[in-house]
Amino acid sequence: MSADKPAGKPAKPAKRAKPAGSAKAPGSAPKGSAGSRPAVAKGAKTKNRSNRAWIDRHVNDPYVQAATRHGYRSRAAYKLAEIDQRDRLLRPGITVVDLGAAPGSWTQVVVERLRIGAGPAPGGRPPGRVIALDILPMDPIPGVEIIQGDFREEAVAARLAAALQGGLVDLVLSDMAPNLSGIGAADAARSAHLWELALEFALAHCKPDGALLIKVFQGSGYSQFVEQLKRGFARVAVRKPPSSRQESAETYLLAQGRKAE
Ligand SMILES: C[S@@+](CC[C@H](N)C(=O)[O-])C[C@H]1O[C@@H](n2cnc3c(N)ncnc32)[C@H](O)[C@@H]1O
Repeated sequence: MSADKPAGKPAKPAKRAKPAGSAKAPGSAPKGSAGSRPAVAKGAKTKNRSNRAWIDRHVNDPYVQAATRHGYRSRAAYKLAEIDQRDRLLRPGITVVDLGAAPGSWTQVVVERLRIGAGPAPGGRPPGRVIALDILPMDPIPGVEIIQGDFREEAVAARLAAALQGGLVDLVLSDMAPNLSGIGAADAARSAHLWELALEFALAHCKPDGALLIKVFQGSGYSQFVEQLKRGFARVAVRKPPSSRQESAETYLLAQGRKAE
């Protein structure tokens, strides 16, 4: 997967709900008029232009450049690093579950900050644990247990629960984003389904002082999900780290302090 061009270029599912054919620029020549071009050629040209723009922005992006220098698998690493800079979620000795982990840059940050493989945890604490799950294959990271599977499938969630061996989790991360179809309502529903599954997992497996950090998209289903989080956790905060592009609808919700049932 290319750096930070995650499955289907996430972001803005709600804003993508343009009916086919509604994207004509104001004032553009009507079809068949002098100077108009065949629709296919025009579409292909627009697509090439937007691909070119994406590539230009990508190679000139300071976060992409820093990720390459640092050996991170994608620029997304900085989103977690920046949130953690503020909220201090990652510390040696904790158990972290990373949902939607591929290609693995968040997992790399987790491993660094938990000091996995860097000797015993300070204060004689047991070593931390990191379990990463994705529907896509992910190259190994030393010290990380990787589960490949679709989190929407009960059998996959059960494999994850079994891997915990009855232990509770300090931090659930979810950067999961579905492949986008371009149909706004369907994409929003797919995203919301993943958010709900991540929340359900966190409520079932987090320690009482555990936390869930989850990527969501502002738009359809967002405020309902915030309310759901508030019912399950004592504190819910919105995070938009500087490395998350302003024009992107993605934002992160940090829920802390699981409420007793
Ligand atoms: C934005 S990427 C994650 C990037 C990752 N946090 C990193 O730093 O490398 C979103 C990921 O969610 C995964 N994903 C989407 N739907 C999923 C599902 N149903 N089960 C598991 N993973 C899923 C995608 O395969 C993709 O790798």
